Amino acid sequence: MADAYDLTIIGSGPGGYVAAIRAAQLGMKVAVVEKWATHGGTCLNIGCIPSKALLHATEMFEEAGHSFKALGIDIPAPVLNLPQMMNHKSEVVAGNVGGVDYLFKKNKITPIRGIGTIVSAGKILVTPPTGAAIEIETKNIVIATGSVSASLPGIEIDEKTIVTSTGALSLEKVPGKLLVIGAGVIGLELGSVWARLGAQVTVVEYLDRILPGMDSEVARQFQRMLQKQGMEFKLSSKVAGIDKQDDGSLKIRIEPAKGGDMEIIDADVALVSIGRKPFTEGLGLDIVGVALDERGRVRVDQHYKTSVDGIYAIGDVIAGPMLAHKAEDEGIAVAEILNGQAGHVNYAVMPAVVYTNPEIASVGKTEDELKAAGIEYKIGKFPFTANGRAKAVLATQGFVKILADVETDRVLGAHIVGKNAGEMIHELVVLMEFSGAAEDLARSTHAHPTLSEAVREAALSLGDGAIHI
Ligand code: FAD
Ligand code: NAI
Repeated sequence: MADAYDLTIIGSGPGGYVAAIRAAQLGMKVAVVEKWATHGGTCLNIGCIPSKALLHATEMFEEAGHSFKALGIDIPAPVLNLPQMMNHKSEVVAGNVGGVDYLFKKNKITPIRGIGTIVSAGKILVTPPTGAAIEIETKNIVIATGSVSASLPGIEIDEKTIVTSTGALSLEKVPGKLLVIGAGVIGLELGSVWARLGAQVTVVEYLDRILPGMDSEVARQFQRMLQKQGMEFKLSSKVAGIDKQDDGSLKIRIEPAKGGDMEIIDADVALVSIGRKPFTEGLGLDIVGVALDERGRVRVDQHYKTSVDGIYAIGDVIAGPMLAHKAEDEGIAVAEILNGQAGHVNYAVMPAVVYTNPEIASVGKTEDELKAAGIEYKIGKFPFTANGRAKAVLATQGFVKILADVETDRVLGAHIVGKNAGEMIHELVVLMEFSGAAEDLARSTHAHPTLSEAVREAALSLGDGAIHI
């Protein structure tokens, strides 16, 4: 049965579902094809949302065990109820994916369950889990099929003992020893989850630093904080292989990245978190002629148009940071462009947050990037040890670092390590969106006592000086 839509989106992650809502708001007749039983994609089902539910629960567990005493709250040592913690995670996921269903209904978006294959511009074949395939006619197509975990050659994922983030979000018991391969965002967030619950966590990273792409001073200091929390790091190292033992445990062969003597580490679970790759399988792109780039991402122009007229792509499946808010903003932009508006995403002001304890938040240029580009910059810094609220809430770890142009004072980048860094970064996002100067921030009154005062103090330190240090 053929049906005609103005727009059909393949994939209901943050890119796809947001594009659908904005397009419907702008008057289009919209369908969304999704192969999974629930909407919301990686982020809502097996990514951002479940990981943040577990990060919160485990942070509470740790606080109950460690900081309550200092606050004068004497309680017996907390006891972990892992099934209930997992229930909490599942309920949060269910609430969020249910929210997308509600928004689809509210905006009269037609959900279609099945695998979408593009037959030609204007035609999609949907193969449902059961029953016959249906063909959809549509004026425009947006590919929003996201990404999947990258794999290591020779290492077979079983999602029980050798897991990706998906398995690591659903372990049935706390592993005695967890080996994390890759010191990126997933490795450090999910490594933190299990470390807080008692796992001994070792992180093996190919490069000589953690969190590549983040400001290197931030990464260095943060690594020390994680080490204090008990996490071990093996930098400049790679995993050569994993041998499964008869008792289910793992022997992991590790060698220096540049080659050399091999070391064997025992572990109960290994988490492979070495990045994600764009997902285009089954879409039929080669047949329709949609071009990919050298890394398998769908190639698009500034208007998210692929090499074929009428076919667009957004989110993790195209170039750029693999972040939910980047996908969402591209979803809004492509819907606006399809409706004759000037949809636009400002990639220069794209925040990134690591939801560990403390959190790391960053926007704009790192110091390393400014150095490499030969841009003259000044640094405004303020530690949370000098912030009254941070002392009151036992959150004195970390600092705010603002990078501004030497001549114009314009803020070029900002990096925060500290409690609630992921919330605080947004005043810098807005400031940078308006091309603001450090002085604009320094002159803005901040309520006392708040952690955000440290942000202002960092800006003040770029002028006549911070007050509280
Ligand atoms: P996805 O969310 O991957 O959605 C793609 C959808 O397309 C899926 O539902 C898939 O089933 C469907 N699909 C694919 N092919 C077809 C087909 N042929 N037919 C029908 N349906 C199809 N980002 C953040 O910004 N903040 C975070 O805190 C964060 N945490 C994360 C934690 C983890 C563990 C992981 C793995 C990722 C995390 N991310 C986070 C990244 C974030 O999840 C992605 O950037 C985001 O989901 C990308 O959205 P998307 O719409 O491009 O694709
Ligand atoms: P990543 O790209 O953040 O980190 C991967 C790490 O693995 C890098 O440090 C890399 O050098 C290392 N690595 C690569 N190959 C290796 C090897 N063979 N041996 C050892 N180390 C190796 O990827 P990650 O953590 O898997 O996350 C994937 C994506 O998901 C990221 O792009 C991230 O943006 C997104 N994400 C975002 C979150 C957030 O915004 N808070 C949370 C989780 C994921």
